[in-house]
Amino acid sequence: MAKLIDPFNRSIEYLRLSVTDRCDFRCSYCMPKSFKDFAEPEHWLSFDEIERVIKAFGALGVSRIRLTGGEPLVRRNLSDLAARLARLPGIEDLSLSTNASQLTRHAEALKQAGVRRINVSLDSLRPERFRAITQNGRLDKVLDGLRAAKAVGLAPIKINMVAMKGVNDDEIDDMVAFCVAQGYTLRLIETMPMGSSGLEASQQYLDLREVRETLGRRYDLIPTVMSGGGPARYVRVKGTDLRIGFITPISQHFCATCNRVRLSVDGTLYLCLGQDHHFELRPLLRRGISDEGLQQAIIEAISLKPEQHEFQDKPEQVVRFMSMTGG
Ligand code: 5AD
Ligand code: SF4
Repeated sequence: MAKLIDPFNRSIEYLRLSVTDRCDFRCSYCMPKSFKDFAEPEHWLSFDEIERVIKAFGALGVSRIRLTGGEPLVRRNLSDLAARLARLPGIEDLSLSTNASQLTRHAEALKQAGVRRINVSLDSLRPERFRAITQNGRLDKVLDGLRAAKAVGLAPIKINMVAMKGVNDDEIDDMVAFCVAQGYTLRLIETMPMGSSGLEASQQYLDLREVRETLGRRYDLIPTVMSGGGPARYVRVKGTDLRIGFITPISQHFCATCNRVRLSVDGTLYLCLGQDHHFELRPLLRRGISDEGLQQAIIEAISLKPEQHEFQDKPEQVVRFMSMTGG
């Protein structure tokens, strides 16, 4: 099997596929309030085009695909696309990142299509605060969506909580209790300076090493591993089934083991979340490139992958909003 190896000897086996840059929420750290610079619909890759690209990645050794956005469930007929991707040779793991606001309606079809596991963004369990963070999102819908996902057997269900100083850092204990009760995995994420302004995000930045220490005084935390291939460092909370993952792009960045690239809805391959390095696949697809040519183009794109992001050294530099790249 062919393999994609980047210039820093990292093996690329994971692709985050953004199926839309639109979202029914507007989390400040992801998309600025007045954001309107969405991709033109005629630039959205069609399901046929997406399938071709993923097939090429599969042939090059990429075995895990995550559907993301924006909010992926905003893209019509997402479960049809999921079913097509799940069948492709080499694709072993198909997952979804969602805000769960529309999951109640789609959970069953996604599961049938071959989506196995999901990550759900959830930054607060307080309806008013949730509404403020998401700019009008309804917590009850999200909680319904989560229940639906559990009922159809999507597993594991991971809750992604972006930890923001002065915003939701007083809710970490509540979130721990919630995840213990529901059987979800909790992942705490450091705010990256990508949102409404890099500056605002820097002010909300919370070093998760401190959070881990605080949690460690309250609970017995046992280091553990969890499959998924991501950068989270996990602990298990003794006496429960709860696992907590810490994702620390700022305080302890994990670029040296980065195994992923991101494809945006308009067919741009982004080589790093925090850098501008990219490669346009859409023109090649629309010019009728051969399967072989497409694979060659992907190999060339991977040679552009930079060594690391520079969120810490240049926090004021907003390269792109998260909603454009795919969270
Ligand atoms: N910092 C950290 N995580 C982010 N996400 C989006 N924007 C940011 C950011 N600026 C992550 C969150 C969210 C998912 C869609 O992407 O985990 O749940
Ligand atoms: Fe939407 Fe997720 Fe971005 Fe929030 S973080 S605006 S839910 S895509």
